[in-house]
Amino acid sequence: MTGKVELSMSEIKKNLHRMKSNKFLRDLCSETNFTIAHFVQPLFTSELVDEKEKIEGLKDNFVMNIEDTIRQIDNDINSGVNNFLLFISSKSKSIDSFNLEYHQKVISSIKDRFRHDINLWTDVCLCSLTSHGHCCLFDAKGSIDLDKTLLEISSIALAYAEAGSDIIAPSDMMDGRTLRIRDTLDKSNFSMTPIVSYSTKFSSNFYGPFRNAANSTPSFGDRKQYQLDYRNRSEAIRASIRCAEEGADMLMVKPGMTSIDLIRDIKSKTGLMVGSYQVSGEYAGLCLSEERGLLNLENSLEETWHVMRRAEAQFIITYGARLAKNIGF
Ligand code: PBG
Repeated sequence: MTGKVELSMSEIKKNLHRMKSNKFLRDLCSETNFTIAHFVQPLFTSELVDEKEKIEGLKDNFVMNIEDTIRQIDNDINSGVNNFLLFISSKSKSIDSFNLEYHQKVISSIKDRFRHDINLWTDVCLCSLTSHGHCCLFDAKGSIDLDKTLLEISSIALAYAEAGSDIIAPSDMMDGRTLRIRDTLDKSNFSMTPIVSYSTKFSSNFYGPFRNAANSTPSFGDRKQYQLDYRNRSEAIRASIRCAEEGADMLMVKPGMTSIDLIRDIKSKTGLMVGSYQVSGEYAGLCLSEERGLLNLENSLEETWHVMRRAEAQFIITYGARLAKNIGF
Protein backbone atom coordinates (compact mmCIF):
# COMPACT_ATOMS: atom_id res chain seq x y z
CA MET A 1 0.00 0.00 0.00
CA THR A 2 1.45 3.35 -0.97
CA GLY A 3 -1.39 5.37 0.53
CA LYS A 4 -2.14 6.76 -2.88
CA VAL A 5 -5.85 7.25 -3.46
CA GLU A 6 -7.10 5.87 -6.71
CA LEU A 7 -9.43 8.29 -8.46
CA SER A 8 -11.86 7.25 -11.09
CA MET A 9 -11.93 9.20 -14.34
CA SER A 10 -15.36 10.69 -13.58
CA GLU A 11 -14.11 12.15 -10.29
CA ILE A 12 -11.07 13.72 -11.90
CA LYS A 13 -13.18 15.44 -14.51
CA LYS A 14 -15.41 17.08 -11.93
CA ASN A 15 -12.91 18.18 -9.34
CA LEU A 16 -12.88 21.84 -10.34
CA HIS A 17 -16.45 22.04 -11.56
CA ARG A 18 -18.01 20.84 -8.33
CA MET A 19 -17.29 24.02 -6.40
CA LYS A 20 -18.58 26.19 -9.18
CA SER A 21 -22.07 24.78 -9.37
CA ASN A 22 -23.93 27.73 -7.88
CA LYS A 23 -23.42 31.42 -7.33
CA PHE A 24 -23.19 31.17 -3.55
CA LEU A 25 -20.45 28.60 -3.76
CA ARG A 26 -18.59 30.63 -6.37
CA ASP A 27 -18.87 33.76 -4.26
CA LEU A 28 -17.78 31.87 -1.17
CA CYS A 29 -14.70 30.69 -3.01
CA SER A 30 -13.79 34.01 -4.59
CA GLU A 31 -10.26 34.91 -3.57
CA THR A 32 -10.39 38.49 -4.73
CA ASN A 33 -13.00 40.86 -3.55
CA PHE A 34 -12.99 44.56 -3.41
CA THR A 35 -15.28 47.51 -3.19
CA ILE A 36 -15.83 50.90 -4.76
CA ALA A 37 -13.53 52.33 -2.04
CA HIS A 38 -10.56 50.87 -3.93
CA PHE A 39 -11.18 52.84 -7.13
CA VAL A 40 -9.72 56.16 -8.25
CA GLN A 41 -11.32 58.19 -11.04
CA PRO A 42 -9.06 60.42 -13.19
CA LEU A 43 -10.33 63.90 -14.15
CA PHE A 44 -9.02 66.41 -16.68
CA THR A 45 -9.49 70.10 -15.98
CA SER A 46 -8.23 72.61 -18.50
CA GLU A 47 -8.12 76.34 -18.98
CA LEU A 48 -8.22 75.71 -22.71
CA VAL A 49 -11.83 74.51 -22.93
CA ASP A 50 -15.11 76.34 -22.47
CA GLU A 51 -17.49 73.52 -23.32
CA LYS A 52 -16.53 70.07 -22.12
CA GLU A 53 -14.67 68.11 -24.76
CA LYS A 54 -14.84 64.39 -25.38
CA ILE A 55 -11.58 62.47 -25.12
CA GLU A 56 -11.15 60.26 -28.15
CA GLY A 57 -11.40 56.62 -27.08
CA LEU A 58 -12.25 57.28 -23.43
CA LYS A 59 -16.01 56.92 -23.35
CA ASP A 60 -17.72 59.24 -20.81
CA ASN A 61 -14.45 61.03 -19.94
CA PHE A 62 -14.08 64.69 -20.82
CA VAL A 63 -11.69 67.61 -20.63
CA MET A 64 -13.61 70.12 -18.56
CA ASN A 65 -13.59 73.65 -17.19
CA ILE A 66 -13.76 74.11 -13.41
CA GLU A 67 -17.57 74.28 -13.18
CA ASP A 68 -18.05 71.13 -15.27
CA THR A 69 -15.38 69.36 -13.21
CA ILE A 70 -17.33 70.17 -10.06
CA ARG A 71 -20.57 68.92 -11.63
CA GLN A 72 -18.80 65.74 -12.71
CA ILE A 73 -17.46 65.12 -9.20
CA ASP A 74 -20.96 65.63 -7.80
CA ASN A 75 -22.28 62.93 -10.15
CA ASP A 76 -19.36 60.65 -9.43
CA ILE A 77 -19.93 60.90 -5.67
CA ASN A 78 -23.45 59.67 -6.37
CA SER A 79 -21.86 56.75 -8.21
CA GLY A 80 -19.91 55.93 -5.07
CA VAL A 81 -16.54 57.36 -6.10
CA ASN A 82 -14.62 59.41 -3.53
CA ASN A 83 -11.05 59.26 -4.83
CA PHE A 84 -10.14 61.46 -7.79
CA LEU A 85 -6.85 61.86 -9.62
CA LEU A 86 -6.71 65.32 -11.14
CA PHE A 87 -4.77 66.38 -14.23
CA ILE A 88 -4.67 70.11 -14.82
CA SER A 89 -3.57 71.98 -17.93
CA SER A 90 -3.38 75.72 -18.27
CA LYS A 91 -2.91 78.11 -21.18
CA SER A 92 0.62 79.10 -20.30
CA LYS A 93 3.58 76.94 -21.18
CA SER A 94 7.27 77.68 -20.71
CA ILE A 95 10.66 76.02 -20.79
CA ASP A 96 11.71 77.11 -17.31
CA SER A 97 9.32 79.24 -15.30
CA PHE A 98 5.83 78.12 -14.52
CA ASN A 99 2.72 79.95 -13.51
CA LEU A 100 0.58 77.76 -11.27
CA GLU A 101 -2.20 80.23 -10.54
CA TYR A 102 -4.80 78.37 -12.59
CA HIS A 103 -3.69 75.02 -11.15
CA GLN A 104 -4.12 76.28 -7.60
CA LYS A 105 -7.49 77.78 -8.47
CA VAL A 106 -8.74 74.44 -9.82
CA ILE A 107 -7.64 72.57 -6.71
CA SER A 108 -8.96 75.10 -4.21
CA SER A 109 -12.30 75.46 -6.04
CA ILE A 110 -12.81 71.71 -5.91
CA LYS A 111 -11.75 71.39 -2.29
CA ASP A 112 -13.80 74.42 -1.19
CA ARG A 113 -16.84 72.79 -2.70
CA PHE A 114 -16.36 69.20 -1.51
CA ARG A 115 -14.08 69.49 1.54
CA HIS A 116 -13.76 66.08 3.19
CA ASP A 117 -16.32 64.37 0.96
CA ILE A 118 -13.57 63.55 -1.49
CA ASN A 119 -9.94 62.56 -1.48
CA LEU A 120 -8.24 64.67 -4.13
CA TRP A 121 -5.07 63.28 -5.68
CA THR A 122 -3.12 65.58 -7.98
CA ASP A 123 -0.76 64.37 -10.66
CA VAL A 124 2.52 66.25 -10.32
CA CYS A 125 4.52 66.50 -13.53
CA LEU A 126 6.05 69.05 -15.84
CA CYS A 127 4.85 67.64 -19.17
CA SER A 128 1.68 69.69 -19.44
CA LEU A 129 3.57 72.84 -18.36
CA THR A 130 6.67 72.69 -20.57
CA SER A 131 6.46 74.01 -24.12
CA HIS A 132 8.30 70.90 -25.35
CA GLY A 133 6.00 68.49 -23.49
CA HIS A 134 8.74 66.63 -21.60
CA CYS A 135 8.53 65.82 -17.89
CA CYS A 136 11.80 67.66 -17.14
CA LEU A 137 13.86 70.73 -17.86
CA PHE A 138 16.88 70.59 -20.14
CA ASP A 139 20.25 72.32 -19.87
CA ALA A 140 21.91 74.21 -22.71
CA LYS A 141 23.36 70.97 -24.10
CA GLY A 142 19.96 69.32 -24.22
CA SER A 143 20.55 66.95 -21.28
CA ILE A 144 18.10 66.61 -18.40
CA ASP A 145 18.85 69.32 -15.84
CA LEU A 146 18.03 67.27 -12.76
CA ASP A 147 18.68 69.98 -10.15
CA LYS A 148 16.36 72.47 -11.81
CA THR A 149 13.79 69.79 -12.59
CA LEU A 150 13.61 68.61 -8.98
CA LEU A 151 13.31 72.17 -7.76
CA GLU A 152 10.34 72.79 -10.08
CA ILE A 153 8.66 69.48 -9.36
CA SER A 154 8.89 69.95 -5.61
CA SER A 155 7.56 73.52 -5.93
CA ILE A 156 4.59 72.24 -7.94
CA ALA A 157 3.92 69.60 -5.28
CA LEU A 158 4.03 72.26 -2.57
CA ALA A 159 1.76 74.61 -4.54
CA TYR A 160 -0.77 71.78 -4.95
CA ALA A 161 -0.60 70.87 -1.27
CA GLU A 162 -1.08 74.53 -0.34
CA ALA A 163 -4.12 74.74 -2.60
CA GLY A 164 -5.65 71.78 -0.75
CA SER A 165 -4.59 68.62 -2.59
CA ASP A 166 -4.98 65.58 -0.32
CA ILE A 167 -2.47 63.35 -2.08
CA ILE A 168 0.56 64.20 -4.18
CA ALA A 169 1.15 61.82 -7.09
CA PRO A 170 4.44 62.47 -8.92
CA SER A 171 4.42 60.88 -12.39
CA ASP A 172 7.61 62.31 -13.89
CA MET A 173 10.06 59.44 -13.21
CA MET A 174 12.91 61.81 -12.39
CA ASP A 175 15.63 60.41 -10.14
CA GLY A 176 15.21 61.66 -6.58
CA ARG A 177 11.82 63.36 -6.94
CA THR A 178 10.09 61.51 -4.12
CA LEU A 179 12.82 62.45 -1.63
CA ARG A 180 12.81 66.08 -2.73
CA ILE A 181 9.03 66.36 -2.60
CA ARG A 182 8.89 64.72 0.84
CA ASP A 183 11.55 67.06 2.14
CA THR A 184 9.83 70.13 0.69
CA LEU A 185 6.41 69.15 2.06
CA ASP A 186 7.81 68.34 5.51
CA LYS A 187 9.59 71.67 5.76
CA SER A 188 6.38 73.52 4.93
CA ASN A 189 4.07 71.90 7.43
CA PHE A 190 2.66 69.31 5.05
CA SER A 191 4.21 66.33 6.76
CA MET A 192 0.80 64.64 6.81
CA THR A 193 0.27 64.89 3.05
CA PRO A 194 0.90 61.45 1.52
CA ILE A 195 2.93 60.86 -1.62
CA VAL A 196 1.67 58.14 -3.93
CA SER A 197 4.47 57.74 -6.44
CA TYR A 198 4.07 56.46 -9.94
CA SER A 199 7.00 54.31 -8.93
CA THR A 200 7.11 51.75 -11.72
CA LYS A 201 6.10 53.61 -14.83
CA PHE A 202 7.07 52.26 -18.20
CA SER A 203 7.76 54.20 -21.33
CA SER A 204 4.65 52.87 -23.00
CA ASN A 205 2.65 53.01 -26.18
CA PHE A 206 -0.56 53.05 -24.18
CA TYR A 207 -0.60 56.70 -23.09
CA GLY A 208 -1.88 58.15 -26.39
CA PRO A 209 -5.46 59.20 -25.49
CA PHE A 210 -4.17 60.74 -22.25
CA ARG A 211 -1.59 62.88 -24.00
CA ASN A 212 -4.26 64.32 -26.27
CA ALA A 213 -6.41 65.14 -23.25
CA ALA A 214 -3.61 66.56 -21.10
CA ASN A 215 -2.00 68.37 -23.98
CA SER A 216 1.33 66.79 -23.09
CA THR A 217 2.68 65.01 -26.17
CA PRO A 218 6.46 65.59 -26.39
CA SER A 219 7.26 67.81 -29.38
CA PHE A 220 10.50 65.89 -30.00
CA GLY A 221 11.87 62.48 -29.06
CA ASP A 222 10.15 60.23 -26.54
CA ARG A 223 10.32 59.56 -22.82
CA LYS A 224 12.72 56.61 -22.95
CA GLN A 225 15.46 58.62 -21.25
CA TYR A 226 13.52 58.70 -18.00
CA GLN A 227 10.63 56.24 -18.10
CA LEU A 228 11.28 52.53 -17.64
CA ASP A 229 12.16 50.04 -20.36
CA TYR A 230 9.41 47.41 -20.60
CA ARG A 231 12.00 44.74 -21.35
CA ASN A 232 13.40 45.05 -17.83
CA ARG A 233 12.06 43.39 -14.74
CA SER A 234 14.75 44.04 -12.10
CA GLU A 235 14.97 47.69 -13.01
CA ALA A 236 11.18 47.98 -12.75
CA ILE A 237 11.25 46.56 -9.25
CA ARG A 238 14.26 48.63 -8.24
CA ALA A 239 12.48 51.82 -9.33
CA SER A 240 9.70 51.11 -6.85
CA ILE A 241 12.09 50.12 -4.06
CA ARG A 242 13.87 53.41 -4.57
CA CYS A 243 10.62 55.38 -4.25
CA ALA A 244 9.81 53.47 -1.08
CA GLU A 245 13.24 54.29 0.36
CA GLU A 246 12.76 57.94 -0.56
CA GLY A 247 9.58 58.11 1.49
CA ALA A 248 6.65 57.24 -0.79
CA ASP A 249 3.54 56.23 1.16
CA MET A 250 2.05 54.06 -1.56
CA LEU A 251 3.33 52.88 -4.91
CA MET A 252 1.84 52.40 -8.33
CA VAL A 253 2.54 50.38 -11.46
CA LYS A 254 1.54 51.46 -14.92
CA PRO A 255 0.29 50.50 -17.46
CA GLY A 256 -1.88 48.10 -15.49
CA MET A 257 -2.08 44.98 -17.63
CA THR A 258 1.53 45.14 -18.83
CA SER A 259 2.82 45.46 -15.24
CA ILE A 260 0.69 42.76 -13.72
CA ASP A 261 3.66 40.48 -13.02
CA LEU A 262 5.42 43.08 -10.87
CA ILE A 263 2.88 44.02 -8.23
CA ARG A 264 3.40 41.13 -5.83
CA ASP A 265 7.19 41.39 -5.90
CA ILE A 266 7.13 45.13 -5.33
CA LYS A 267 4.70 44.70 -2.48
CA SER A 268 6.74 42.02 -0.77
CA LYS A 269 10.05 43.82 -1.25
CA THR A 270 8.83 47.20 0.01
CA GLY A 271 6.05 46.31 2.42
CA LEU A 272 4.03 49.12 0.80
CA MET A 273 0.68 48.94 -0.88
CA VAL A 274 0.85 48.97 -4.65
CA GLY A 275 -1.88 50.25 -6.95
CA SER A 276 -2.45 49.59 -10.61
CA TYR A 277 -3.23 52.26 -13.21
CA GLN A 278 -5.36 51.07 -16.10
CA VAL A 279 -4.04 53.70 -18.49
CA SER A 280 -5.81 55.51 -21.30
CA GLY A 281 -4.68 53.25 -24.14
CA GLU A 282 -5.78 50.12 -22.31
CA TYR A 283 -9.14 51.63 -21.50
CA ALA A 284 -9.59 52.96 -25.03
CA GLY A 285 -8.87 49.49 -26.42
CA LEU A 286 -11.87 48.16 -24.52
CA CYS A 287 -14.15 51.15 -25.32
CA LEU A 288 -13.42 51.03 -29.04
CA SER A 289 -13.85 47.26 -29.17
CA GLU A 290 -17.23 47.67 -27.58
CA GLU A 291 -18.15 50.36 -30.09
CA ARG A 292 -17.39 47.85 -32.85
CA GLY A 293 -19.56 45.24 -31.16
CA LEU A 294 -16.59 43.03 -30.28
CA LEU A 295 -17.01 42.88 -26.51
CA ASN A 296 -19.07 44.10 -23.60
CA LEU A 297 -17.29 46.99 -21.88
CA GLU A 298 -18.62 46.49 -18.37
CA ASN A 299 -17.90 42.76 -18.33
CA SER A 300 -14.42 43.29 -19.71
CA LEU A 301 -13.68 45.99 -17.16
CA GLU A 302 -14.82 43.75 -14.37
CA GLU A 303 -12.46 41.05 -15.60
CA THR A 304 -9.43 43.34 -15.88
CA TRP A 305 -10.06 44.80 -12.43
CA HIS A 306 -10.32 41.38 -10.84
CA VAL A 307 -7.10 40.35 -12.52
CA MET A 308 -5.34 43.43 -11.14
CA ARG A 309 -6.70 42.62 -7.72
CA ARG A 310 -5.70 38.97 -8.09
CA ALA A 311 -2.20 40.24 -8.78
CA GLU A 312 -2.54 42.05 -5.42
CA ALA A 313 -3.19 45.60 -6.52
CA GLN A 314 -4.46 47.51 -3.51
CA PHE A 315 -6.21 50.21 -5.52
CA ILE A 316 -7.13 50.68 -9.15
CA ILE A 317 -6.98 53.92 -11.08
CA THR A 318 -9.31 53.60 -14.05
CA TYR A 319 -11.31 55.81 -16.40
CA GLY A 320 -14.23 53.52 -15.59
CA ALA A 321 -14.24 54.02 -11.80
CA ARG A 322 -17.58 55.79 -12.08
CA LEU A 323 -19.05 52.64 -13.65
CA ALA A 324 -17.85 50.36 -10.87
CA LYS A 325 -20.91 50.64 -8.67
CA ASN A 326 -23.18 49.82 -11.57
CA ILE A 327 -20.99 46.87 -12.46
CA GLY A 328 -21.51 45.56 -8.94
CA PHE A 329 -18.66 46.79 -6.76
C1 PBG B 1 2.24 62.55 -17.01
C2 PBG B 1 1.36 61.35 -17.06
C3 PBG B 1 1.08 60.49 -18.15
C4 PBG B 1 0.10 59.60 -17.69
C5 PBG B 1 -0.16 59.92 -16.36
N1 PBG B 1 0.63 60.99 -15.99
C6 PBG B 1 1.58 60.48 -19.54
C7 PBG B 1 2.99 60.23 -19.85
O1 PBG B 1 3.80 59.93 -18.98
O2 PBG B 1 3.32 60.40 -21.01
C8 PBG B 1 -0.55 58.54 -18.53
C9 PBG B 1 -1.91 58.14 -18.09
C10 PBG B 1 -2.75 57.44 -19.10
O3 PBG B 1 -2.34 57.17 -20.25
O4 PBG B 1 -3.90 57.15 -18.76
N2 PBG B 1 3.59 62.32 -17.04
